[in-house]
Amino acid sequence: MITQRPKGTQDWYGEYMHKRTIIEAVARKICKAYNIKEIITPAFEHTILFQRGVGETTDVVQKEMYTFDDKGGRSITLKPEGTAGAVRAYLENGLFAESQPTKLFYITQAFRYENPQSGRLRQHHQFGVEIFGSSSPLAEVELITLLNDFMKELGLKGAKLHINSIGCKSCRRTYNEALLSYLEVHKEKMCPTCRERMLKNPLRVIDCKVPTCKEIVKDAPRTIDYLDDECKNHFEELKSLLADLGIDYEVDTGIVRGLDYYTKTVFEFVNADGFTLCGGGRYDNLIHEIDEKQDIPAVGFGFGIERIINELAAEGVSLKPEEPVDLYVGILGKEARTAAYRLVSNLRRKGIIVETDYLERSVKAQMKYANKIGARRAVIIGSEELANNKAFLKDMQTGEQTQVELDGLAEHIVK
Ligand code: HAM
Repeated sequence: MITQRPKGTQDWYGEYMHKRTIIEAVARKICKAYNIKEIITPAFEHTILFQRGVGETTDVVQKEMYTFDDKGGRSITLKPEGTAGAVRAYLENGLFAESQPTKLFYITQAFRYENPQSGRLRQHHQFGVEIFGSSSPLAEVELITLLNDFMKELGLKGAKLHINSIGCKSCRRTYNEALLSYLEVHKEKMCPTCRERMLKNPLRVIDCKVPTCKEIVKDAPRTIDYLDDECKNHFEELKSLLADLGIDYEVDTGIVRGLDYYTKTVFEFVNADGFTLCGGGRYDNLIHEIDEKQDIPAVGFGFGIERIINELAAEGVSLKPEEPVDLYVGILGKEARTAAYRLVSNLRRKGIIVETDYLERSVKAQMKYANKIGARRAVIIGSEELANNKAFLKDMQTGEQTQVELDGLAEHIVK
C-alpha cells in the first residue's frame, strides 16, 4: 500500500511527462496568440461553489466529488473541473470591472471519484479557456478556432466537432415538460438516481451513463426542437459563422453535457471511436447564480490532457523528442574537480545542456554513462587539460576527436 498510488491517479515522469510539457507549451503559445491570460485558482474551494455552479443533480456533484470537512469544520471540495473556480475568481477579484471580455486559460488538475478506465481518471488534468462578457456566437467561434489551431499544432487530425443547443432557461421549461412526460412512461426501467433526479432536473437523465437509461434516452425529445427565437437565432448564426469560416461540424442532438451551467451552445470534439476529447459551451446564467449582482454571459471549454496523450498515440503522432544532452564533461582526478565544475556551470549559463560526474566514477565508467544518456559530445578534464587550456572534444556518434581550447569550448557546441 505504501508504495502504491491511489486508484485512478498517475505519476508523471519520463516520456509521458515530456508529452505533457509539450502539450502545455503549445496551449500557452496558442493562448498567447489569442491574447488569453493564464489563471491559477486553488486546488480546493468551498463545496457550495460546485453544488451551486456545477449543479446538485449532476453526476459530478452527486457521486464524484472529493468532499471533506477541514479542521475548522468547513466543507471543502477538491475541484472536479475548472470553470466554477475561474468564475469565482473573476467575481472575487473584480475582473468584470475591467474592459470586457475577460479571456482566461488554465492548466489544472481536477478530481472526480469515477470508475477508473482508459481516459477516465480520479485525478485528471485539463487545459481550459473561459471567455467572460460576450453573448455573441463569435465567442464560441473563437474557442472552436483556438481548439482547431491547438490540435493542428500538436499534429492531431482525428477529432470531429459536434455541436448542439440546449437553449436558455425559458426554452428549458417547455423542453423539461416534454421530456418529463416521455420519461414518466419509461421510469420503471430507469436507474434509481434518474428516477429521482428526473423530477428536479430531467435533462440530467439524457446524460446518464447507465445502459438502460441510455437506451430510453435514444428516443427522447430533443432540446433543439424546443428553442425560442433568440436561442434558435443564436444557433443558426453560429452554424453560418462556422460554415463561412470553413469549419466542419456536425449537429449532434445527443450532447447535453454533464454539468448544469450550460445554456444555448454546447459542443464536444469527438475522436474516431466516438470518445469525447474536449467539451464546452455557453453558460450565460452561471455568473448570476454565483453572484446575483452580476449578469454576465460566458463560454468556455475543458480539454483533458491525458486524453490528448491517448489520442496522439491512437493517431500515431510523435511529438518532438526531448532535447539531447549537448555535452558530457568527464572529470579526471580530484584536483580537476573545482575547475571542471566551474566550466560546466559557465557552459550551462550559455544555454548548453551539460551533464557531468558527481558519483566520482572512473573515466571509463563516465564515458559509458555519457553514452547511455545519449550525450552528443564528451570531453574529459584533468589537471593536464586545465594547465594547457586544451582538451579533446569527442563526437559520441562518429567517435571523432578534435582538440579544442577550453576557453572557447562553447563555440564548438552546435545545437
Ligand atoms: P467536462 O466535459 O466535464 O467539462 O470535462 C472536460 C474534459 O476533461 C473532458 O472532455 C475530458 O477530456 C476531460 N475529463 C473529464 N473528466 C475526466 C476524467 N475523469 N478523466 C480524464 N479526463 C477527464 C468540464 O469540466 C467543463 N468545466 C468544461 C467547460 C469549461 N465548459 C465551459 N467551460
